[in-house]
Amino acid sequence: MSKNKNNKPVWSTRIKKSRSTLFTKVGSSLYIDKRLYKQDIKASITHVEMLFKTKIISFQIKNKIIWGLKKIFNEIKKKKFIFNNQSEDIHMSIEKRLFELIGEDAGFVHTARSRNDQVLVDFKLWMIEATDVIIKEIDATNKLIIKIAEKNIYTVMPSFTHLKNAQPISFAHYILAYLEMLTRDKKRFLNNKENLFENPLGVAAVAGTSFNIDRGYTTKKLKFKNPTGNSIDTVSDRDFVLDFLYSISVCSNHISRFSEEFILWNSDAFDLIKLKNKVVTGSSIMPQKKNPDTLEYLRGKTGIFYGNLFSMLTILKGLPLSYFKDLQDDKELAFKSFDQIKISLQVMREVLNNFIINKKKMTKLAETGYTTSTDLAEYIVQKYKYPFRKAYIITSKIVNLAEKKGKKLDQLTVNEMRLFDKKLNEDVLKLFNIENSVKSKKSYGGTSFENIKKMINKYKKNA
Ligand code: ARG
Repeated sequence: MSKNKNNKPVWSTRIKKSRSTLFTKVGSSLYIDKRLYKQDIKASITHVEMLFKTKIISFQIKNKIIWGLKKIFNEIKKKKFIFNNQSEDIHMSIEKRLFELIGEDAGFVHTARSRNDQVLVDFKLWMIEATDVIIKEIDATNKLIIKIAEKNIYTVMPSFTHLKNAQPISFAHYILAYLEMLTRDKKRFLNNKENLFENPLGVAAVAGTSFNIDRGYTTKKLKFKNPTGNSIDTVSDRDFVLDFLYSISVCSNHISRFSEEFILWNSDAFDLIKLKNKVVTGSSIMPQKKNPDTLEYLRGKTGIFYGNLFSMLTILKGLPLSYFKDLQDDKELAFKSFDQIKISLQVMREVLNNFIINKKKMTKLAETGYTTSTDLAEYIVQKYKYPFRKAYIITSKIVNLAEKKGKKLDQLTVNEMRLFDKKLNEDVLKLFNIENSVKSKKSYGGTSFENIKKMINKYKKNA
């Protein structure tokens, strides 16, 4: 290893002509991957400790390198470190500074290691932490959802299929659907950790190394679970980045569906909820406007997450084994998606903390569109032991009549209903009450008030 003077890259003995200034500039990822400095220094310290333990480097050199790395850590932390994009990335930057601090002995740091495994170990360590941060954001969002659900067990609204009124439900049941989605997201992130806990350090450039290194030692020290099993696969693998970007995309899809629904319900046409001033924006020309920009922001960002996932998929498509410069963009995509999903979950909570439910309108809408027809059909089946299809036809005829007369189901007389089946009596009238309808959906996972209370207790235990 040369003394690395005058900003020359380490390969300047081999590649003598000066480099393209343009490519030196655009080919550097320093301004993106400098956020890996903590992980890089931690992994390098562990690496040299391992090199000493396996008698590859001496005690003095190990200590000298660790001293230098710790000094660099403090310089970066205190913003005293000069980042210069003559260095291709954070790894070369730190190595260059190490040379300045301790001289030629710095060259021992890169024994039995390549940037190919170095970047992966840093990136995986970062992603384990980032995954935990996302899980925390999800937990906080779920806690808030439970709080909202608890306050709204008896708030009745219509459910929709095809955006047509379907059956009465509790608003708590509706909002808890999002808790289920976010809980699946959390599981997805937890599953991803399995692959993240495989230690890439020590596979070197592609083939492994002739040094008698101890990958078990670095695995344990860096809190991984196992060393990776194939050096070629290790340096080529970015599946963990895809998993991360995909999991973020699915999570954002849930946030986006929530946003779209709240936008609709906040509209003047639906008027089921009202966003508070904290989460709306005005118009530059229409003084009356209060627009749901926060929700539109969340819905829009989902496109960015999908874009990042598709960029990574496309970068990997057809890429032969093993490392190529193409892969350098993986970090920018992961960092951007991570930063944004964190913000998106926070903004979602801002919205959840700042809306009012229009209970009157919810009740009115739940009573519109013959939403209790299915209750009548189910009652007929259970009371008279009719096949469901027969009960469905009788109920359809009753709905047709009500519609023709411009009445709601509970405004029909029992005699009018008896035109379609003699057995019907005034007992049926209570079926048209939307609260009774909700109450009756006692099947596991259904919307009955009792079920919701039990589910809330269960969620609270797991929260
Ligand atoms: N900055 C590079 C990246 O993130 C590090 C790996 C460089 N390896 C190499 N063989 N050029 O991809």
